Amino acid sequence: MELLLLFLSFCFLTLSRLTFGAESGTPVTTVTVKEDDDVILPCSLDTNVNIEKMLFDWKKEGTVPQKEVFMYVEGKHYNNGLPGQDEQFRDRVSHFPEELKYGNASIRIKQTRLEDKGNYTCDFPRLQPETKIFHIELVVGAAPEPYVTILKDKGLLQCKVPGASPKPTVEWWDSDNKTLPSKMLQDKAEQGRFYVTIQTTAPKPGCYQCVSTQMEIWHRISSEICVPEVSGFSAVWVIATVVFGLVLFGAVVLLSILKAKGYNCNKGTPEATNHSSNESQHLNQASKPPLNE
Ligand SMILES: *[C@@H]1O[C@H](CO)[C@@H](O)[C@H](O)[C@H]1NC(C)=O
Ligand SMILES: *[C@@H]1O[C@H](CO)[C@@H](O)[C@H](O)[C@H]1NC(C)=O
Ligand SMILES: *[C@@H]1O[C@H](CO)[C@@H](O)[C@H](O)[C@H]1NC(C)=O
Repeated sequence: MELLLLFLSFCFLTLSRLTFGAESGTPVTTVTVKEDDDVILPCSLDTNVNIEKMLFDWKKEGTVPQKEVFMYVEGKHYNNGLPGQDEQFRDRVSHFPEELKYGNASIRIKQTRLEDKGNYTCDFPRLQPETKIFHIELVVGAAPEPYVTILKDKGLLQCKVPGASPKPTVEWWDSDNKTLPSKMLQDKAEQGRFYVTIQTTAPKPGCYQCVSTQMEIWHRISSEICVPEVSGFSAVWVIATVVFGLVLFGAVVLLSILKAKGYNCNKGTPEATNHSSNESQHLNQASKPPLNE
């Protein structure tokens, strides 16, 4: 539970931190960004020296030859005619001209893609007395909201995470933040994205959340769904209503059949029948004499 407090839920952090490459001892700056957002890769000479008349070169590691991201040579660069930029970065990378005089060679990458993730170097090959290379690791995250549904009748809760990166841990939590046992229905990777679907059975009515956690980027996102209180009773009510309806219908049908056979609610006993027929005779007698006279 303590660990949970470290997570900043429901928001995506763009953060950078310094770590040290184990083998070389050179600092590596890690920058984390959400897919489609712009990102600044930092690179600054701490001497504050003006680099307008210098050369700096940004490359992406991991391929041979390495990809050319952004090169600046004494005012010439990839956005004003200098050739050699890798296709992946065309029209997406810019530098900060106003910052050059402070030794700042940072670049901005527009609309980051998953394929942009990896290690970059910012190189000052002509710097005297010695060259300098900065290492920047870019982590690009995709963190879609889990899509939650109740599968009818069974109280089954389904959660689908459609294409997260890096790989998420997906769990169903009850209202006490306890993890429920769940069944993995899908767990596949496609072009660097992870598609995960899990199902669990709601033990009782209440609200449950599906939590998708990406440890590497300190990101957590969740979606909630509530199982209604009377889901068990509603079936009973439906059955009760149907049975009641049938009984009522049967009674109405029975009554109309009895009516059709000549029975009447008033003709309960033979006495009553005689009495009423006597009455009608009286009426007849009463009405007839005036006609006869
Ligand atoms: C370099 O410039 C960028 C863009 O303006 C800025 O974000 C960054 O803080 C600057 N770096 C330093 C060390 O001043
Ligand atoms: C980037 O470099 C770090 C060490 O500096 C390494 O651990 C990591 O695997 C590298 N990342 C990629 C995508 O090559
Ligand atoms: C569950 O975790 C959330 C943060 O993720 C917290 O706000 C909430 O208080 C927790 N609930 C319980 C019952 O621990």
